[in-house]
Amino acid sequence: MHIYKKFALVYDQMDADLHSKRMVPYCNKIFKNFKIKPLNGLDLCCGTGSAIIEFEKLGVKMSGLDQSAEMLAIAAKKTKKFKTTLYQKSLPKFHLLDINDSQKHVQFDMVTSFYDSLNYMLSENDLLKTFQSVHKHLNDKGWFIFDMNTPLALKTIWDEQVYAGVKDSMAWVWQNEYNPKDKKASVHATFFKKQGKLWERFDETHYEKGYSNTVIKKLLKSTGFIIKGFYDCHTFKTATRDSYRICAVAQKK
Ligand SMILES: C[S@@+](CC[C@H](N)C(=O)[O-])C[C@H]1O[C@@H](n2cnc3c(N)ncnc32)[C@H](O)[C@@H]1O
Repeated sequence: MHIYKKFALVYDQMDADLHSKRMVPYCNKIFKNFKIKPLNGLDLCCGTGSAIIEFEKLGVKMSGLDQSAEMLAIAAKKTKKFKTTLYQKSLPKFHLLDINDSQKHVQFDMVTSFYDSLNYMLSENDLLKTFQSVHKHLNDKGWFIFDMNTPLALKTIWDEQVYAGVKDSMAWVWQNEYNPKDKKASVHATFFKKQGKLWERFDETHYEKGYSNTVIKKLLKSTGFIIKGFYDCHTFKTATRDSYRICAVAQKK
């Protein structure tokens, strides 16, 4: 089943982009702590482009990548004034080639990915391949900053939980499950969107996988990253097995 199709139309209305908006000031603190001055960056799984806009306001020239044409269409409208380059590509493998030299990969000072996006990689091998693709697209000593849900979060916040919300012209019900054996969670999301006097219903099922801190660090190191920070997200405390969301700050060797 395709995901983030009609969901794209209600994503910002549901404030689903708030997390990534919050990640940018946090990243700015990370920049200050590590004296990072990125001139350009790529936001992986950029969705509707909200993080791109916040980074542009900080003076970072951004590009975005996502597999959903519908999410990118909204991102394109929102980022029009920044002339952002948006790529429709799927992780784990992506090749963004230099328009002037088709043999060269485009490289960035920074790659980011927020709000569970990397949890959509449903095998260790796909997560590793994603890290390898990111590595290829970073300048020497470039930075990779991302957050991920932990298995604890998927177990505690997702398992057998139902979340619902209602606004004037839309409503949603999310039914979640978690399988501790393979650390995979599913969300069966039902949306209702008002169309004139009628309500349209649409459904999407999403899958995420949680990875232990040890596995994420192992994969980053084996790809050729130095881990500069591995935080309980939104803080500068080292992530522990009690963390619900981690934020990794890694530098290309
Ligand atoms: C939870 S949304 C996060 C969007 C955005 N980063 C934000 O914080 O609002 C996850 C995004 O990942 C994208 N995505 C999921 N799997 C992907 C894949 N394999 N390749 C590229 N994009 C993917 C989806 O299309 C969606 O836009």
